Amino acid sequence: MSIPVITIDGPTASGKGTVASRVAAALGFAFLDSGALYRLTALSALEAGIDLSDEPALAALAKALEVRFEGECILLRGREVQDAIRQEAVGNAASKIAALPAVRAALVGLQHGFRQPPGLVADGRDMGTVIFPDAPLKVFLTASAEARASRRYKQLIDKGFPANMTALLQDLKERDARDTGRATAPLKPAEGAHVLDTSDMTIEQAVTQVLDWYRRPGDSLAQGN
Ligand code: DC
Repeated sequence: MSIPVITIDGPTASGKGTVASRVAAALGFAFLDSGALYRLTALSALEAGIDLSDEPALAALAKALEVRFEGECILLRGREVQDAIRQEAVGNAASKIAALPAVRAALVGLQHGFRQPPGLVADGRDMGTVIFPDAPLKVFLTASAEARASRRYKQLIDKGFPANMTALLQDLKERDARDTGRATAPLKPAEGAHVLDTSDMTIEQAVTQVLDWYRRPGDSLAQGN
């Protein structure tokens, strides 16, 4: 029997990270934040002064990522970077390098390695379409650009980072366009994915819905897209 995976894909700040980690905790599954891998590669590149269009150098960096996930902490070569990788500049750089096929290919093995018993919840852009196409449950989580920008604003302010709503909304729309429009692994709902718009939902409601879909797969077929 293959190890079950729940894929939760969606645009930036759609709430998928929080929903995915809570679903994982509820089921006792491992959790993969695949965006963090692109962010870690971007942070390494920015720190090493590597040009964000130098595909071979970026792919080599991605392949050699020395990363450990320990609860809330993310360690890059032993250094805590969970806050550093959340900065907007790093997110933007991540979105740019994520469009490069060699970078994406370099991160595939690392992502597959997270599939461990009893199961995995994987969050990202191409979890259901490319990385885990055989996942028994695929979810596409979305929300309006305005709802997502205000969530991101709150996250940044809570972490003590400066934030500007107009700039955030603009950035988010540009990032959406890049993630959706790229040739390799573009952001889109996987075939058979359940689409969930969380604009007017609480986190708890979204988590409950995903758990329901997982526990009662037969009941929800009519709602799938
Ligand atoms: O989910 P996030 O905002 O942390 O992701 C940062 C960037 O990484 C995002 O703009 C697109 C990219 N990404 C991707 O291309 N594929 C994934 N599976 C996850 C993230």
